[in-house]
Amino acid sequence: MSNEFRTEAVKAEITALASRCNAPQELMSRMVKLLHDRMLKFNWVGFYMLEDGSSSESPMLVLGPFEGAMTPHTRIPLNQGICGAAASTGKTVVVDDVSQDSRYLACSIETKSEIVVPVLVGGKVRGELDIDSHFLAAFGREERDLVEYCAKLVGKTLEQSSKAP
Ligand code: SME
Repeated sequence: MSNEFRTEAVKAEITALASRCNAPQELMSRMVKLLHDRMLKFNWVGFYMLEDGSSSESPMLVLGPFEGAMTPHTRIPLNQGICGAAASTGKTVVVDDVSQDSRYLACSIETKSEIVVPVLVGGKVRGELDIDSHFLAAFGREERDLVEYCAKLVGKTLEQSSKAP
């Protein structure tokens, strides 16, 4: 199956999934499993959600639903890692070779490339979708498109659920 055909087919499955899941937590859990199962180079797929800091603590990214091996990074401050960079700028970060990026926090020695896409609600970062690959430069235009589409759907579901009576 060509790359483009695969990402389009997975996008269609994700769209169908989002139309069945109104609860953000359920959508996120099913989405990470689907992406991990279908996209052969997506070897770790997970959400980090932003926890507002109290007056004494700074905001943290907290591990949410994920598929893949357990990570040592269950809480990440906004000034650390590729994850912190994406959340603090509100922009997608793609790293083709994590060994060349000093921000990278290692989760598995097998990881070679990574993408992190912020989840926005009302223009504000509420969390992010993080994917690691055992392959260099696994996140080209089509993969990035797919992951950004997923993050957008989760943002929309979070927004709708916050408005629900
Ligand atoms: N590599 C991430 C940490 C999270 S693990 O990949 C699951 C980072 O540099 O922020």
